[in-house]
Amino acid sequence: MRIAIITGATGGLGKGFVQAIAAMEEIDEVWAVGRNVRKLRELKEAFEKVVPVEADLTKDGVSCLEGLMKEKRPDVRFLVNNAGVGYFGAYEKMKREEVEAFCRINCSAPAELITAALPYMQKGARIINISSASSFQPNPYLSAYSASKVFLKNLSRALSVELKPRGISVTCVCPGWVDTGMLPRTKDGNEIKYGGMISVDRVVKKALKDSMRGKDMSVPGVFAKYFRIYSKIMPTGLVMRQWTWSVRKYL
Ligand SMILES: NC(=O)c1ccc[n+]([C@@H]2O[C@H](COP(=O)([O-])OP(=O)(O)OC[C@H]3O[C@@H](n4cnc5c(N)ncnc54)[C@H](OP(=O)(O)O)[C@@H]3O)[C@@H](O)[C@H]2O)c1
Repeated sequence: MRIAIITGATGGLGKGFVQAIAAMEEIDEVWAVGRNVRKLRELKEAFEKVVPVEADLTKDGVSCLEGLMKEKRPDVRFLVNNAGVGYFGAYEKMKREEVEAFCRINCSAPAELITAALPYMQKGARIINISSASSFQPNPYLSAYSASKVFLKNLSRALSVELKPRGISVTCVCPGWVDTGMLPRTKDGNEIKYGGMISVDRVVKKALKDSMRGKDMSVPGVFAKYFRIYSKIMPTGLVMRQWTWSVRKYL
């Protein structure tokens, strides 16, 4: 049985991946992972291939998926590590438990899921990890988020080299702002402006295309591409000051 595992399947980007991958002939089942039971049920109703997997990735979610794989022994053709959470605000306001849960979902869960799925992956299998343009430089007031996305980016790129001899591709996706439920739309009644925001469809299409081509990075949209180059050539201190200035009114 040829399957795709997609985490964060009930939300914006994850749902987009479910839709695109469920349409592929080479896939028999899409294991859609999330906590929201109602949304998982809706996914199952919308896409025949969907197998809903109710799991919390800050708790025993990875063990649950590992157990399912041991039981069904599937041929994992895709692993999309998409689930992730953001935290915008002063780092010192985060509680220790929040930091722990944050690191679990954004860092440990994708890393552990790769470890759990690799025994079930063969030549031609693909891993897609959703990082962010926030991984291009440290972002004050998005500190833990940008750090967690660097973890995922460096893990992805290094693994793409390590897994090449096995014919398994690893693609790291680094979008700028994407039009999903993750982004708050107002702050104190004022509209929040997200420069260069792009659609879910655009990110998903490019990610799948880049994955097919065996590319280790997928950077959708002009904004993220520009940001990547800018962060590489400009002093980090200056980039951080400019970022902090641009977000000051939302703090
Ligand atoms: N939106 C952006 O601007 C943007 C930009 C760059 C990168 N990204 C990245 O893209 C990925 C997807 O984000 P999105 O914008 O599509 O966000 P979203 O609409 O908020 O979706 C987040 C998904 O993560 C799942 N999730 C959250 N906590 C979970 C937990 N503890 N266990 C299991 N699943 C959990 C949610 O499902 P349940 O609620 O059902 O658990 C939901 O399906 C994230 O990694 C994010 O960092 C987003």
